Amino acid sequence: MLDLFDSRERVVLADQAVLMRGRALGVDEALLAAIDAIAGRAPFRRMVTPGGFEMSVAMTNCGRVGWVTDRTGYRYAPRDPATGEPWPEMPAAFAALAHDAAAEAGFADFVPDACLVNCYEPGARLSLHQDKDEQDYRHPVVSVSLGLPATFQFGGLKRSDRPLKVSLTHGDVVVWGGPSRLVFHGVLALKDGDHPLAGRRRLNLTFRKAL
Ligand code: SIN
Ligand code: FE2
Repeated sequence: MLDLFDSRERVVLADQAVLMRGRALGVDEALLAAIDAIAGRAPFRRMVTPGGFEMSVAMTNCGRVGWVTDRTGYRYAPRDPATGEPWPEMPAAFAALAHDAAAEAGFADFVPDACLVNCYEPGARLSLHQDKDEQDYRHPVVSVSLGLPATFQFGGLKRSDRPLKVSLTHGDVVVWGGPSRLVFHGVLALKDGDHPLAGRRRLNLTFRKAL
């Protein structure tokens, strides 16, 4: 049988970095409902960077550990500092999507233990950074975009490398690893809009194996 999801567009961003357009479309509503349930227990919050700036992106997590930042630094924590409770469990559908997308991008056996949930409202942005708080860079990063479109910057291994700009829309999945694992990336300020399923928001799931 023809599998529509396997025939969707793939964009190679760099060596072992691929954008799979629409890869999450079959499960988009389930993902959004699960995000609502997670945020009901571990509310979205704007965290503070070690430099003292409040981030414009609101964040929460699910999984064994969650990514947090405060004045003392960036780290993965087993509990939500806002509630003292463990982060909500990673839904099986999240782990399955991340695992399967990673496998399709050439990373077999990806079992994420952390899922950062980012909520962008109009104007929110994420400046260029590397994901490097994880213990083993052999594991890829899997990113799932939902809601309003955003411009993703995908650069090189040096901050000064001029980034590619690629529009990420509802259902898009990006996987990067191997020689691209430590590329600088970011998200430009979100333009206002109204998405039929997500409203005036962009939601992003970032899956990593942190421990
Ligand atoms: C991130 O780098 O943590 C998130 C990227 C995105 O929102 O697309
Ligand atoms: Fe990142």
